[in-house]
Amino acid sequence: MTLRRIAATLVLLLALPVAGTAQEPLRLVVNADLGEHTINRHIYGHFGEHLGRNIYDGFWTKAGTGDWHLRDDVIEALRRVQIPNLRWPGGCFADYYHWEDGVGPREERPTMVNALWGGVTEDNSFGTHEFMELVERLGADPVVVGNVGSGTVKEMADWWEYLNHPGGSTLADRRVGNGHPEPFNVRFWGVGNESWGCGGAMTAEHYADVYKRFAEFVRPIGDVRPFRIATGPSEDMYDWTETMMRDAGRLLDGIDLHYYTVVGTWENKGSATDFTEREWFIAMQKARRMDELITRHAIIMDRYDPDRRKWLIVGEWGMWHDVEPGTNPGFLYQQNTLRDAMVAGLHLNIFNSHAARVRMANLAQTVNVLQAMVLTEGDRMILTPTYHVFDLYKVHQDATLLPISLDAGEYAFEGETIPAVSASASRDAEGGIHITLVNVDPGRAHSVQAEIRGQAVSSVSGRMLTADALNAHNTFDRPDVVQPADFDGAQMSGSMLTIDLPSKSVVVLELR
Ligand code: AHR
Repeated sequence: MTLRRIAATLVLLLALPVAGTAQEPLRLVVNADLGEHTINRHIYGHFGEHLGRNIYDGFWTKAGTGDWHLRDDVIEALRRVQIPNLRWPGGCFADYYHWEDGVGPREERPTMVNALWGGVTEDNSFGTHEFMELVERLGADPVVVGNVGSGTVKEMADWWEYLNHPGGSTLADRRVGNGHPEPFNVRFWGVGNESWGCGGAMTAEHYADVYKRFAEFVRPIGDVRPFRIATGPSEDMYDWTETMMRDAGRLLDGIDLHYYTVVGTWENKGSATDFTEREWFIAMQKARRMDELITRHAIIMDRYDPDRRKWLIVGEWGMWHDVEPGTNPGFLYQQNTLRDAMVAGLHLNIFNSHAARVRMANLAQTVNVLQAMVLTEGDRMILTPTYHVFDLYKVHQDATLLPISLDAGEYAFEGETIPAVSASASRDAEGGIHITLVNVDPGRAHSVQAEIRGQAVSSVSGRMLTADALNAHNTFDRPDVVQPADFDGAQMSGSMLTIDLPSKSVVVLELR
């Protein structure tokens, strides 16, 4: 080889990235014979709020028949992803909501102005019994959020009794008269929402006292013991967590952290569909912050609750963009692209990894609002890329989290870097192993060399979600632009698994 040739080869070699090339795959170790924590299925939960077209048009419609009814198409779609729970009636709306307005004959129910969300008239046609029928048909657990901000202790205690007392009290008999003889046996109970903001703008110390007063009167009825959930912090309000754990820990079972992925500022969040690679990069960077937030809040909780009996709940999460141009700004309607799907995959991997402390999470808000699972228009419905991620990931529900170590590689953009690959692994009741992987790098495939330790595996199969464009999304005219396909980029050889992970992809593998 001439000197010139050697020099040229050297330059070429130096120019190659150090990891993630075909020569040097990223390394993943899955400890298939270890694992002590269950990934609670409630991590895969959802959120219904009287906001925009979430309830009305979303779950509850007049389309087709002219009379109010639950949407079969939405219910069927959510059943397919095994929706484990639905939080309701808010969000901020919960602290405006008076449950008695929403029971009894529909034509006699009072109306109210939903001053918070678009100033529209709320006719209360969707109330307690409609919600309970919805969750029953979904096969999901109800998560009811009571009104602290504009409600009273008695109002909340009455609702609890109305729902759960078997009979023989005026409230229970009213439920029977309204068509439901059996108690509903609701367990998950939110005591207010965002009480530091729209739920009453309280300080942590003040809310801790208010919380105890409300929570004290939501008491066990028969076998139904309330699982009481306190308003938790927004993002990095670590003092809030500290105060609640210190002052109200005795009476709380869960604490509800909220964190949204906002690319720009709250005033100018950025478009859901029209964005640059910079805005893609920022979305991934900000989504990953969830890991740090959970870690830090969990450290505080560990001090007061070392046995991890209390749940850290991420009761609201997801991407929050500017509303779709031409739609009511108070309705928070937004489209959903491959970028949202990546963010969903990252979050779910993060939640899984904290399974010992994070036992419930709720994506905001299921239908037609923020990072929705499905969008509706009249009697039509489409599935979003985010929906497909929940479909791929449902295999983790109630499975055992497997400890992994991952060399995540790097996604570099304009001088900054974030990890390129995220992963999570679990073992189901039949011994099947599932690995979910997200490659957020939009310009580079990554090869991953995985070692499966402690369990013999003979076959691998997979599904993948990707698309050509960063902003690929489904519309009512083209509903299948982004949808999962079979993935044949994984090969097993002994205990070694080679995965060729395409750029901007979410992959689930099943090992048997
Ligand atoms: O999800 C929209 C709103 O965001 C919710 O109502 C509120 O809890 C949060 O601030």
